Amino acid sequence: MIRFTVITLFPEAVEPYLRTSMMWKAVDKGLADFELVNLRDFGLGPHKSVDDTPYGGGDGMLLRCEPVFAAVEFAKTKDPLAKVILPTPVGKIWNQGMAKSLPEGHYIILCPHYEGYDERIMSIVDYPISLGKYVLTGGELPALVIIDSVVRLIPGVLGGEKSAEIESFSEGDNLEYPQYTRPENFRGMKVPEVLLSGNHGEIAKWRKEHSGKI
Ligand code: ADE
Repeated sequence: MIRFTVITLFPEAVEPYLRTSMMWKAVDKGLADFELVNLRDFGLGPHKSVDDTPYGGGDGMLLRCEPVFAAVEFAKTKDPLAKVILPTPVGKIWNQGMAKSLPEGHYIILCPHYEGYDERIMSIVDYPISLGKYVLTGGELPALVIIDSVVRLIPGVLGGEKSAEIESFSEGDNLEYPQYTRPENFRGMKVPEVLLSGNHGEIAKWRKEHSGKI
């Protein structure tokens, strides 16, 4: 069982995806569990403030330590061994191998927002993760990407032998081969002959030759 607790200022942006399709199916089958924690609940003062201006000057606002530490400590009361993932453009770049090898367990994904976060937040982070060399406005999309890429690999989530076959055939790091469904001829674009042949050996060979690699 893998569990993700997402700490975010925008739970309403994260929740719909986790309630949809394969993510929901994983929960329904007891293979994954998701929880949302609203960082605003841990904000300071009457305005539940979570950010402040940077020391030394500069544009924008930074996430403050107090609400973030309080939210992570809250999430950890249920599971002190939970690991903290921080989506950040300066983290280790996420890839399929990392998605495959993430051990079962409980992960708290802390979604920063605004222009950044107080560097002391790094002291409670186990995995700083970047999705790539570009900057997003917050950690919500990276959180969903990380969750999706991990959960879809859990046996029983995608279902059907076909998906399992593709995974084992591709050893995980190949992209699927091109696939076709009816009609055989669509506006002059024909399905490759070999796929209609019924020759499983030839079909496997064709698929292997046409698999993309990450
Ligand atoms: N937050 C902002 N940009 C990001 C990125 N590229 N990857 C992960 N988290 C981010």
